[in-house]
Amino acid sequence: MEILFFVLVLCFTYVLWQKWELTKFQVTEYKIVSSKIKKQACGVVIADLHGFSYGRENEKLLETVKKINPNIIFIPGDILVSKYSDTYEVALKTLQELAKIAPVYYSYGNHESRLRDPERINHSLFQEYISKVKEAGILVMETESREIFLGENKVQLSALELELEYYEKGRIVPLEQDYLAKRLPTQKEEMFQILLAHNPAYAKEYIHWGADVTFCGHNHGGLVRIPGIGSVISPQLTWFPKYDSGRFQEGDKNVIVSRGMGTHTFHIRIFNRAELLSVTFLPE
Ligand SMILES: [Fe+2]
Repeated sequence: MEILFFVLVLCFTYVLWQKWELTKFQVTEYKIVSSKIKKQACGVVIADLHGFSYGRENEKLLETVKKINPNIIFIPGDILVSKYSDTYEVALKTLQELAKIAPVYYSYGNHESRLRDPERINHSLFQEYISKVKEAGILVMETESREIFLGENKVQLSALELELEYYEKGRIVPLEQDYLAKRLPTQKEEMFQILLAHNPAYAKEYIHWGADVTFCGHNHGGLVRIPGIGSVISPQLTWFPKYDSGRFQEGDKNVIVSRGMGTHTFHIRIFNRAELLSVTFLPE
């Protein structure tokens, strides 16, 4: 009887703690130094918001972004949850407000890609949502490259939208050889290359393609993190995902994986607080 009581108290405490934990996010700072950057600039990365709201209409998130005062905002996908229509409204309002702070560049995650299918529930709602996002002045990117300004630096920004087969549950489908080179224009060597690629499973390919920095999300930090070991399982149901959170480097190339801002389906974050990335780009 005493053991049962103890287990119940433990479960109750856990549920309360999780609820509280999911109302918090942290700001993680990164520095990227490159000879291709001429003037210091700052970018904010918001990944996997999944229709979450920190405070009323995301006022806490917006306040934090305003305080950082970035030159640019990057969204590497999954701002909503494809099957829950109420997440579209939160996502749209947040994006409209973000666009008032700095230029926003938004590339698709698997949740957005899924909604391109006319057979999908919420397809027409998604089309309406995207046209309003564009009306707000946000640049929605499919698989494409653009020359843009990062503060005073002219850089090349590319986005990669993977086909849904690359999000198969339970395994990592190998990326076809030269996948990026076949789909994106040749990079201008002298320009700093930024890539928005939702799925970090292909970090090596992003590096080999030549992105100076790639921003990813998708793995939500692995839902549960064991201190000293890392993540346990990805939302794609792969065990101990290698590219779960943080910075991965090869030479001067960086892949930065965000633990994301929201969750869906399994609302779990254990030792795995949601995060907003603040990235300072510096000349060498
Ligand atoms: Fe995702």
